Amino acid sequence: MKRKVTKAIFPVAGLGTRFLPATKAIPKEIMTLVDRPLIQYAIDEARAAGIKDFIFVTARGKSALEDYFDIAPNLEAELRRAGKTELLNVLKTTNMESGAIAYIRQQKALGLGHAVWCARRLIGNEPFAVILPDDVIAAEKPCLQQMVEAYAETGGNMVAAMEVPPEKTSSYGVLDVKEDMGQLVSVKGMVEKPKPADAPSNLAVIGRYILSPRVMGTINKTKQGAGGEIQLTDAIAAQIGASEDGVFGYRFRGQRFDCGSKAGFLQATVAFALARDDLRDELSEFLREMAVIDKAAQ
Ligand code: G1P
Repeated sequence: MKRKVTKAIFPVAGLGTRFLPATKAIPKEIMTLVDRPLIQYAIDEARAAGIKDFIFVTARGKSALEDYFDIAPNLEAELRRAGKTELLNVLKTTNMESGAIAYIRQQKALGLGHAVWCARRLIGNEPFAVILPDDVIAAEKPCLQQMVEAYAETGGNMVAAMEVPPEKTSSYGVLDVKEDMGQLVSVKGMVEKPKPADAPSNLAVIGRYILSPRVMGTINKTKQGAGGEIQLTDAIAAQIGASEDGVFGYRFRGQRFDCGSKAGFLQATVAFALARDDLRDELSEFLREMAVIDKAAQ
């Protein structure tokens, strides 16, 4: 029987070394696209998909995330006193119902698979989603919601998928496709970060997953893989054939930004700012000027 997906894991234990020195003192998930932290985009997407229980797998130095989702009584009182209702409403979007978020520590950085496994007791025997906040997806219908709808038909395990340039496969989990049905593909294998020559395709895993709780047991048996880490990709791949659960790739509709890289983060910042009524005109004028200067310099 397929069950509703109401739990999501947010692996947020990473050190964010690519964004040093900023990440020396703040978690990378608090870094902002325009004026909202990366993690807020992930939470909003999860909420839209019907997620009720939010499980953060954190690490030392990440307590700013807990403060971010707490209420801020003094700040709220101050805004109320000043009659700043609009800002108060903005602030309310960060409030979570009591008990909706759980924080678990991943004590050692052993990899994404291990981070997910750290949440096994809270997942129990239910299917669950995993959202990697580094992957920000702009879409009319939020990506995880698209997947939850598709999963209602397939069950099993589902990963978000996107074609990437063949020379980029070594940055991703890559799907070995059994049957391509268009939006949906069934998968007969998965490889974490293969060299282009070894990649079974250029259909890459993007950071959204809906997984069977059986994956937790498999992670426990998964040996170190790419980069010496316990990989989620390997554990999902090990599910194929091991149970009646299928593994599916879902080509989502939307634009994905790799906010784990500086270039991707900047692109997302520009794209999200251009989508905003209060910023579009000023920013696009600036971008046009920059393009002219750039052209003149060449
Ligand atoms: C992780 C996963 C990888 C996936 C990628 C998507 O890698 O291990 O399979 O393709 O996210 O962003 P990371 O980027 O954390 O190295």
